[in-house]
Amino acid sequence: MTKFMTLALVLINFNIFAGPQDKIVGGSAVINIEDSPYSMKFKYGCDGSIIAKNWILTAAHCKSVLKYGGTAGTLDAQDKTNVLKADKVIIHPKYDGSKQSYDFALVKLKKDIKFTDKMKAIKLADEAYEQSGMQSEGVMATVYGWGLTAERGKASRYLNFVEVPIVSNETANERRAYNGAVDETMIAAGFDEGGKDACQGDSGGPLVTFNSFNEPVLVGVVSWGQGCARKDKYGIYSRVSFVHKWIMDTMAKN
Ligand code: ARG
Repeated sequence: MTKFMTLALVLINFNIFAGPQDKIVGGSAVINIEDSPYSMKFKYGCDGSIIAKNWILTAAHCKSVLKYGGTAGTLDAQDKTNVLKADKVIIHPKYDGSKQSYDFALVKLKKDIKFTDKMKAIKLADEAYEQSGMQSEGVMATVYGWGLTAERGKASRYLNFVEVPIVSNETANERRAYNGAVDETMIAAGFDEGGKDACQGDSGGPLVTFNSFNEPVLVGVVSWGQGCARKDKYGIYSRVSFVHKWIMDTMAKN
């Protein structure tokens, strides 16, 4: 190997060409909305995922802003081309704000979204997906959002993403981490050393893994964490597979 090749590899490894890694926390800008066409942003903070023509899945703790609706089909939070108006907000009946158990909300839209490559629904993880190991410890997941780019940073105008490994509830409940606070309605993701995570403003947004056809599947909804990207303090997400039936039944009945 020549000295030049070594230098080039070092530069690529340290991501000198990609610019500062400071999006979401420790991530980068999404280049095309076609790479996350299920991401939507509520007008007054919080994100969501398009899961059907007229339904958004988001977090219950975002409930105060959900009725104001939001935008989709764009990376730019200020782009009002596709406004989504909320018709109904349904909070999971077992949502517990003190523990953040069942941190799920469904928002029914006034009008159907016309699906395009920039705006379409994501598949939901179910029990079978979980059983097949597609959201088990060590599987890499991607989280997307318009939230803060550092714990004390500011919200991002453009959509960002970061890749984090899924962590088992057992690991997330170790003393050094959350010491038992992570229940079966939640799923954790992140590195022991921290550095990469969702943060305030990313709430309600998607945590995704890819199935064997390389299709994105929604496994989590950004819910909570102690600070952002701190050592041992993984990001905690609402576990979609756990409430798959509630989501399907609620969409059918409303
Ligand atoms: N609760 C926050 C929000 O409302 C999301 C926090 C996620 N935190 C984390 N460290 N992953 O936006």
